[in-house]
Amino acid sequence: MEKVLSGKTPVNNDYYHHLGEDWLIANDDPIALLRAESKLKNPWVLETIEKELGEGSKKVLDIGCGAGFLSNAMALSKHEVSGIDMSEESLKIARKYDTTKTANYLYGNAYELPFEDNQFDAVCAMDFLEHVEEPERVVAEASRVLKPNGIFFFHTFSKNILAYFVIIKLVEWFLPKTPKHMHILRLFISPKELDKMNKLAKLKTIHMMGIRPNFGELPFWKSLFKREVHPEFRFSFTKSTLLSYIGYAKKMD
Ligand SMILES: C[S@@+](CC[C@H](N)C(=O)[O-])C[C@H]1O[C@@H](n2cnc3c(N)ncnc32)[C@H](O)[C@@H]1O
Repeated sequence: MEKVLSGKTPVNNDYYHHLGEDWLIANDDPIALLRAESKLKNPWVLETIEKELGEGSKKVLDIGCGAGFLSNAMALSKHEVSGIDMSEESLKIARKYDTTKTANYLYGNAYELPFEDNQFDAVCAMDFLEHVEEPERVVAEASRVLKPNGIFFFHTFSKNILAYFVIIKLVEWFLPKTPKHMHILRLFISPKELDKMNKLAKLKTIHMMGIRPNFGELPFWKSLFKREVHPEFRFSFTKSTLLSYIGYAKKMD
């Protein structure tokens, strides 16, 4: 199996490359948390596209699309989707589960998007910016390919000690299959830092909100006890951006 080009980053991006069908089926692997999160994030992204850009099909790009959790949901909602990733094996899974067979999945590097300027109505970088050494380059590329007034969606992890213990240490304990360096604190990004990157890229941050697991629900505790992600494990939006946060910014005219 070809090795993914993970560049110089010490983050373990190869992990995603070797997941295969586990992207969709594994419950004892941290990928199940990303899958559970996408159930909350995808409808919100789709609603926000409609709220900000109006009804109808939009041209959207998903950077670091992985197995296409968001791309395939956007394609199902009739958007014209491009997904780009540096793992060819993940792209194969994304293509396989694109029931519409309309999404355009491309192998490529987020630092050099293979698109002309001002092409897309929306660009997404979900659970992605903390996987590269120079997220500001990705944000600048996202802005370059966005049309004026286009929307940049992001989801990433806050840089603080609580995020280190919950997102890195608790997940390593909870799911022992978690690979080493799946996430590293140094690459987490505070909301303030991300806002600064947006500004530098001529993007105006419109909204940011936190995401947290539903600690109060039984599936959360069952999952911890069984050391696998229960099918009913849910995430919710929250005001606090201390752990992970999602949001969007608009390209200035
Ligand atoms: C945590 S996964 C997120 C997948 C997807 N965005 C989601 O939320 O389900 C990060 C993805 O980024 C990809 N990746 C890492 N570095 C990249 C780069 N420089 N350019 C493109 N993709 C990259 C990895 O192969 C992996 O599929």
